[in-house]
Amino acid sequence: MKLPASAHLTQLSAIRIRQYSSITKHPCRAILTSSHLSSFTTHRRRMSTITNGVNGAKTLDVVQNAKERKPSPIRSLFPLEKTPGVISFLAGKPNPTMFPLTSLSFSARSPHSSSLEDETTYSLTSEDLALEVETDAHGISTTSLRSILENWPAGKPKPKVLYTVPYGCNPTGMTATLERRIEVLKLAREHEFIVLEDDPYFYLYYGTAPRTPSYFSLEPQILPETGRVLRFDSFSKVLSAGMRIGFASGPDAILSAIEKHTATSNLQVSSLTQVIAAKLLDSWGYEGYKTHTERVSEFYREKRDVFQAAMVKYLDGYAEWVKPEAGMFFCHSSTAHDKLTPDLTRFKLNLTSGSDLKDIGDSESVIRTTAFEKGVLALPGKVFLPNGNKTAYVRASFSLSPEADVYEALSRLRAALVEVRGE
Ligand SMILES: Cc1ncc(COP(=O)(O)O)c(C=O)c1O
Repeated sequence: MKLPASAHLTQLSAIRIRQYSSITKHPCRAILTSSHLSSFTTHRRRMSTITNGVNGAKTLDVVQNAKERKPSPIRSLFPLEKTPGVISFLAGKPNPTMFPLTSLSFSARSPHSSSLEDETTYSLTSEDLALEVETDAHGISTTSLRSILENWPAGKPKPKVLYTVPYGCNPTGMTATLERRIEVLKLAREHEFIVLEDDPYFYLYYGTAPRTPSYFSLEPQILPETGRVLRFDSFSKVLSAGMRIGFASGPDAILSAIEKHTATSNLQVSSLTQVIAAKLLDSWGYEGYKTHTERVSEFYREKRDVFQAAMVKYLDGYAEWVKPEAGMFFCHSSTAHDKLTPDLTRFKLNLTSGSDLKDIGDSESVIRTTAFEKGVLALPGKVFLPNGNKTAYVRASFSLSPEADVYEALSRLRAALVEVRGE
């Protein structure tokens, strides 16, 4: 399979994106995407997933799908947040203090007048489609991926797409290492699949080592030809979550397919949000945008460090975790088959006294009962497991809570664990 390398920039609707393709330092064609677009990757918030093609190998029965849709397990916990006194690490929301827009004004003609002079001013203030691949603290387990692909049943079409969140993965918090990225790209060539690189946490990087290149920029360095990486950037974490605007970069053939799909589904990204983003980015230029993202990452780095210090203070011996190098989550393992070696564990609660690492435990019952009664919430790892198995892992978001709340909440979590362990 040899896909044409992308080599030119395009202008779409109202927003010019020229300077932003240089984010990846790679000549590319880039197109705007709305949130709906990237949701075609059904398990996008879960983990690395390989699927049998963007459109699926089967014709989906839309009506049946709608009937079978279940309520979001994450959102079903949100009402608990409203309980007075509860401190919550549930939602993976960006911190609004880092959004640059402080106010937005627009004018409208009065419905009673056609005169432009007569204006009112408003102000707004600030199963068989997918299968899992194991991940660990270094990213996708290429041993697992290779084994899946090499043992693929003869006669059954091989997966066409690998979906991954390489920086500060939601929910696992892991950031893929350079070695793993290179191995994945080589496997992509060997087994002819496309890598969907969903990278909304790219700018929220806190590591001391130089930033690992994206799959998109690595591809031309590693493989003899390009065209196997489709990259998704999002402004949701750095400009505004509500704007839900981003852009895709990749091979012409796929971008054209996305454009056609958009034209017959949601038509285009909302013009209003495009104009807002375009105005802002035009006035900043690329250097201004970069400076802003550096401020944003510094802000979250401090939040990460506060959370880490509070974890050490209260949860040493009561949980195991890996300090995240990117993103906004201290997190659980997203796969039940995760190797529970100490250096690879994420935020896992030790639910029995002197618990050994093989103990599975059930963080959900602890979160919904004892932890909630003590006034703290985090997201049970079970909601991310397609098989719904019990797990001791949790995802805690550090993006919103002020320092005092973090310390208070983690001391409550410790008290809950002391009670559950019968100490
Ligand atoms: C994995 C992943 N992809 C994308 C996004 C952002 O999506 P959007 O650009 O649709 O706001 C998020 C955050 O909500 C995310 O966690």
